Amino acid sequence: MTIKEIFETMDYGPAPESAADALAWLVDQGDRFGHFIDGAFTAPADGFDSRNPATGEVLATLSQASQADVDTAVTAARKAQPKWEALGGPGRAKYLYALARLLQKHSRLFAVLESLDNGKPIREARDIDIPLAQRHFYYHAGMAQLMDTELPDVQALGVCGQIIPWNFPLLMLSWKIAPALAMGNTVVLKPAEYTSLTALLFADICQQAGLPKGVINIVTGDGAVGEMIVAAEVDKIAFTGSTSVGRRIREATAGSGKGLTLELGGKSPYIVFDDADIDSAIEGLVDAIWFNQGQVCCAGSRLLVQEGIAEAFHAKLRARMDKLRIGNPLDKCIDVGAIVDPVQLDTISALVAANTAGDMYQPQIQMPEGGCFYPPTLIEGLTTSNTLMQEEIFGPVLVSSTFRTPGEAVEIANNTRYGLAATLWSENINLALDIAPKLVAGVVWINGTNMFDAAAGFGGVRESGFGREGGWEGLGAYTKPKGKTKPLALVNPFKGDGAPADPLDRTAKMYVGGKQARPDSGYSQAIYGKSGALLGHVGIANRKDVRNAVEAAAGAKSWAKTTGHLRAQILYYIGENLSARATEFAQRIDAMTGGKGGKAEVETSIQRLFTAAAWADKYDGQVHNVPMRGVALAMKEPTGIIGALCADDSPLLGLVSVMAPAIAMGNRVILAASHPFPLAATDFYQVLDTSDLPAGVVNILTGNHTEVAKPLAAHLNVDAMWSFSSSNVSTTIEAASAGNLKRTWINNGQSLDWSQDHSKRFLQAATEVKNIWVPYGE
Ligand code: NAI
Repeated sequence: MTIKEIFETMDYGPAPESAADALAWLVDQGDRFGHFIDGAFTAPADGFDSRNPATGEVLATLSQASQADVDTAVTAARKAQPKWEALGGPGRAKYLYALARLLQKHSRLFAVLESLDNGKPIREARDIDIPLAQRHFYYHAGMAQLMDTELPDVQALGVCGQIIPWNFPLLMLSWKIAPALAMGNTVVLKPAEYTSLTALLFADICQQAGLPKGVINIVTGDGAVGEMIVAAEVDKIAFTGSTSVGRRIREATAGSGKGLTLELGGKSPYIVFDDADIDSAIEGLVDAIWFNQGQVCCAGSRLLVQEGIAEAFHAKLRARMDKLRIGNPLDKCIDVGAIVDPVQLDTISALVAANTAGDMYQPQIQMPEGGCFYPPTLIEGLTTSNTLMQEEIFGPVLVSSTFRTPGEAVEIANNTRYGLAATLWSENINLALDIAPKLVAGVVWINGTNMFDAAAGFGGVRESGFGREGGWEGLGAYTKPKGKTKPLALVNPFKGDGAPADPLDRTAKMYVGGKQARPDSGYSQAIYGKSGALLGHVGIANRKDVRNAVEAAAGAKSWAKTTGHLRAQILYYIGENLSARATEFAQRIDAMTGGKGGKAEVETSIQRLFTAAAWADKYDGQVHNVPMRGVALAMKEPTGIIGALCADDSPLLGLVSVMAPAIAMGNRVILAASHPFPLAATDFYQVLDTSDLPAGVVNILTGNHTEVAKPLAAHLNVDAMWSFSSSNVSTTIEAASAGNLKRTWINNGQSLDWSQDHSKRFLQAATEVKNIWVPYGE
């Protein structure tokens, strides 16, 4: 384009960034890469080409890791871990800080290499991906510095296997590596096969920073290498990618004792109310769905516009789309770059081609020749049942629908299996702050979108996965409580002495929906004391009883909306009523267990109730300072319906320790009582009945844990599943939980000392952090 033409059309002229330095770095490395293991690059081996999606050119050849490579990397990480942890927080902080500085120093090289490898516009790589990656290392250098004083009760997990996607290659690496290292873990990371180059450049700067060898290991390859990492002797898997692979990883790690965090897909709503600043909302949409060609897990891909402004809004949107510039990602004038790979381009094209609903709009803009490009696309007039309103397209395709009332907006927004992010636009702060808590999502942006920062946790609910990355809330994914656990032996029920059965029927019922309930099976189990004397019978719950209990819990939804003050009062009341019957409960416990610890167990149970009551109105969220015009309100929300198999060895304390913090946070629970000693639980619901607890908040089942574990863990309306059972059910639970990707906390055959107060861990497990970004300040 000549200068004269630019003056005549007022079009942007090309402003290409030079690829020379990035290409030279590739040449320096010989254009062929091995893996980065134990502080050095291995010799290149058989592998695959990494291409520039904008041109199809081969940038480098990468090695496909073998089982031996993965094993060597894990061994190196294992060997390096104790020393790395022993460096102490401040010792590790220095390295994280050095990595941040080196990322800053080489930021242009990283940005250009990222753009070449991924196809994203250089403007985005330069202004968003790379600065945010640096920010994560700075922020977590700080977390390392503070760990010893601020988190004195936790320690590193050990070796973390990390598998990342191709949409934000260096940024996802930083999100994973920075907190892991800060907390004293070592890492084996696999970048996505389409985009491994900045991870290898990062390995280069790890050498420059003098990072101890083995602390970071990077192996390249496809999903098969990912599977090897998942199966390896690591202590934790952190995964970002598709929901289907996330689900497979959940199943593969079930019962292995490995920690797991999953950051998966989304179909995030972008809600525009009729009083919104329309021009800002339109500009926001450019960031929501055309940022990174829509290949963003939290992309605002589902536009919901209030009916009164829908026509005008869509007209403006189409006009804005006409002005989007698509083309060479290295051109600084480009808004929309290339799709990462022909495979992804085919996926997008096929999904759109299969759609016959609504009206499609694609601007008549000049498309580049060759390369993986897809035009910005809008499909209007869809309804929630249309496939494209439900399926993640992961491309520059926006689907839209309308709503009439705020209530309807919330209903449509939440009509999805995902729960990653949501955006809402309104000039009415009352409306915005009324809607934000109602959206089922891990992140909500008000009058802005796709904002990220290391200080604010990111992650989803429902099938968008679990765990948070960033902020204080993200550190839990890379730490565990200090101390060693002990194996838990199976606690068997006592056998009867063969004396004739009691002519009176003393079958304690179960407790469902605030009422006593007979077991569906019609079967019961006799409970004997240590001497063999019959103490009573309890019902044996089956899957039908589980379903009834979940239904009852679902009906008690309004518990989540009660105030902490009210929940505290009810918990105090439960404690008071238990205290009034302390002697009777102590005798019951001693009769069942044949021990003498009943009195102390009841006392401690009362304390647990009081502690949960104390926390009910004090386990507050945080306000994160983010370096933008705004703050992120990190709100603690109840997890939802929690199924829990209670400890067998502490019949009352095991149940109360689980129940009290869970309901204190607004959850509803289905508790499977101690299998061998269930009578304290069946007595306990009489206490609940007299304590103003609404029906359905606590439901108590009796019988075999092995019988209820699977139906509870597989139930799609159960949001979390905990098990402290002495039965071997950990694998069953985690495998069955993959259906709706519920959060799990299982003991894996290890005991928890119930005489100790673990309330903080329970409070954490009973809540989800939702980060609500609100405009604030200048
Ligand atoms: P993917 O989930 O297959 O790949 C992500 C990472 O997982 C890559 O490093 C890959 O090598 C690895 N992987 C693949 N199979 C694995 C397995 N069985 N075990 C362990 N690791 C495995 O994502 P893909 O195929 O690249 O993209 C497909 C769709 O996934 C996209 O169209 C999009 O809808 C979604 N996606 C979502 C992302 C997000 O951030 N939520 C990121 C990337 C893709």
